[in-house]
Amino acid sequence: MKQPVRIAVTGAAGNISYSLLFKIAAGEMLGADQPVILQLVEIPQAMDKLRGVAMELEDCAFPLVHGISLHDNPFDGFRGIHYAMLVGARPRSKGMERADLLEANAVIFAEQGKALNEVANRDVKALVVGNPANTNCLILSRNAPNLDPSQFCAMTRLDHNRAKGILGNKLGVNPSDLDGVCVWGNHSPTMYPDVHHATVLGEESAISQIDEKWYKEDYTPRIQKRGAEIIEWRGLSSAASAAQAALDHMHDWALGSNGEVVSMGIISDGSYGVAKGIYYSFPCVCEFGSYQIIQGLEINEYGQSMMKKTEEELLSEKAAVDHLLPAETAESRENLRKSDRTGQTAYDNGLDKADVYYKADRIC
Ligand SMILES: NC(=O)c1ccc[n+]([C@@H]2O[C@H](COP(=O)([O-])OP(=O)(O)OC[C@H]3O[C@@H](n4cnc5c(N)ncnc54)[C@H](O)[C@@H]3O)[C@@H](O)[C@H]2O)c1
Repeated sequence: MKQPVRIAVTGAAGNISYSLLFKIAAGEMLGADQPVILQLVEIPQAMDKLRGVAMELEDCAFPLVHGISLHDNPFDGFRGIHYAMLVGARPRSKGMERADLLEANAVIFAEQGKALNEVANRDVKALVVGNPANTNCLILSRNAPNLDPSQFCAMTRLDHNRAKGILGNKLGVNPSDLDGVCVWGNHSPTMYPDVHHATVLGEESAISQIDEKWYKEDYTPRIQKRGAEIIEWRGLSSAASAAQAALDHMHDWALGSNGEVVSMGIISDGSYGVAKGIYYSFPCVCEFGSYQIIQGLEINEYGQSMMKKTEEELLSEKAAVDHLLPAETAESRENLRKSDRTGQTAYDNGLDKADVYYKADRIC
């Protein structure tokens, strides 16, 4: 039996977590042979509700769950963790402007970044789900000077899964028959769902089988605004699908994507001309606990303008919180380390540096 790993989940009493926690506990994220210790984090006002969720987890008698602890602050909740699922965020309240929302979340994610920096395991992998996910992720990373910027991701996997699911349905194939679909940019209505490089059953090009008008005028806005469509029909925001996407993202990051292309909001190294230092969704493959951007894709004029638009939005979000970003981490986030082995950007969570990896405390 493997040693247990510690997983923190914030917003643990919320809707997404109500689905996510039970999947993690069942072994769907890290495998049926990986015991877990769950460190659940909430705001003080939600601790009673969180206790109820923890009781339900206990009542499932999951064999992989070796411990559950409840915390009302990240400095306790993130102690020794190997994985952080950062779901909790401040929702937009009535009358709140976008800048206010960015700033309210900046405070939360700055504190969580400091906590990760101080108390998490040195090879921690952190996934930001809470919105605005990309900019929250930027704030998190910039507040963790001793961790590598590639240890942080913003979740765009839900958009990716939506792009595959809806395309598969249109073509009459199973989503697993598709590869190469990706989503570029921000997790917002400016995102660019790209099927130009997608193949069906590893051979046929997907774009050649769909109508351009449908792709641009129906499919693309549908993916971009799918969250709102779900709210319209369900009366509640996406929760189970968001939980599944968080699980998929972390599963692939930790265990590999089997050669399949996945979309991940990661720190830009300038690939495809995207501004360095922002968390932007790129097509990636994951292997051995790290990921790499797929390079060399041909982007047509339409794609370039779509990618630019979402990049500009991220840059404007960054400008809105710039005064809250510590200057000391600016340089390291724009000049990413290169791998000694491959010469490529080291999106490897420090695993490239064998000494750091082997010293990481995996025994709880
Ligand atoms: N990236 C994506 O694809 C994606 C998809 C769906 C939802 N989301 C976002 O995920 C977030 C959670 O969604 P939900 O439906 O579970 O919301 P929810 O309101 O049901 O739950 C959020 C929980 O977070 C907690 N919380 C707030 N601030 C916190 C903090 N500082 N520390 C710890 N916990 C805190 C709240 O008390 C609440 O229990 C939202 O921001 C939502 O917009 C992102």
